[in-house]
Amino acid sequence: MHTITLIPGDGIGPEITRAVQDIFAAAQVPVQWEEQNAGQTTFDQSGELLPQALFDSLEKNRVALKGPITTPVGKGFRSINVSLRQKYDLYQNLRPAKTTEGISSRYSGVDIVLFRENTEGLYAGLELWDEHHGIGDSIARVSVAGARKICRAAFAYAAKHGRKKVTLAHKANILKVPGKIMLDAAAEAAREFPQVQYEDKIIDNMCMQLVTKPEQFDVIVTTNLFGDILSDLCAGLVGGLGVVSGANIGDDMAIFEAVHGSAPDIAGRGIANPTALLRSALLMLEHLGEKEAATRIEDALNETLRHKEQCTGDLGGQASTQQFAQNVINNLK
Ligand code: NAI
Ligand code: MG
Repeated sequence: MHTITLIPGDGIGPEITRAVQDIFAAAQVPVQWEEQNAGQTTFDQSGELLPQALFDSLEKNRVALKGPITTPVGKGFRSINVSLRQKYDLYQNLRPAKTTEGISSRYSGVDIVLFRENTEGLYAGLELWDEHHGIGDSIARVSVAGARKICRAAFAYAAKHGRKKVTLAHKANILKVPGKIMLDAAAEAAREFPQVQYEDKIIDNMCMQLVTKPEQFDVIVTTNLFGDILSDLCAGLVGGLGVVSGANIGDDMAIFEAVHGSAPDIAGRGIANPTALLRSALLMLEHLGEKEAATRIEDALNETLRHKEQCTGDLGGQASTQQFAQNVINNLK
């Protein structure tokens, strides 16, 4: 039995986490949940965005499933997601994007796994405001150690999952210093995994190629900001943010979460689509070594997605969040 920290989150978070819990219970997945909240809800109750009890639970269980969190707008509030990633060195942001039958998209045959460096680059928090001269700087910090870790993770994943190719996306022609660090780190990882092909592409060309011929890409590795943008682009290739999963992984902790936010416009109405969070939960099962349970639920999810009428409104159906979950449960073999 695995104990998982469950962060229901804000907005639609509690509705979609409940759906995942129901599906896991019906499939008799060997996990038990330890619920600890964070975000707007806990802030309203206790004045804390990230309570100590959550840190304790994460440090004990080392694996979490997280609903979306609303970061209160205003001075002094750092993004909770960025805070957690940096505090626990969750340096890999894993974002798979795969064409699924039943989910409409302009493309077919897309099957990309993106590795975004998750703690450095332009998100390192090195921001300077020189009021006297009216100049603002954001420093893109890339460390050799960080570049090696993310590149190696991408190649190790490719080798483990029988993937053919890793593409490094960069801008080394202009951003020469961080670019060279990434190129060197990727070349080093490529030597360690000779069974995986390696190529590098400049980020602007990469964007063009992704929207014209996405099926040529397999595993992509890149720095934080490029990864943030490319991963949303890749989500757009396969049906949008409502259906893609995500994971923040470090050497000794992993937090799995959907890519979308707390959707305040539809919160509390029971109509949110739990697919993205469910898929993130399936990544979590694989991470835990529960591959069989993950495949069984994935098959049931895919069967549900093939029938529009079994899906939620954003996918063209009329099912509520709970009905959708029930349909997945009914489709379990
Ligand atoms: P959002 O992703 O919450 O919503 C964008 C649009 O997509 C809305 O129309 C929403 O109704 C729809 N949508 C999102 N998820 C859906 C689902 N599962 N089913 C059906 N429709 C869905 O993005 P927005 O509005 O920019 O952000 C809202 C809040 O979420 C903000 O406070 C933001 O900071 C937070 N956020 C949190 C994230 C996280 O915790 N990982 C990630 C992104 C945003
Ligand atoms: Mg983003």
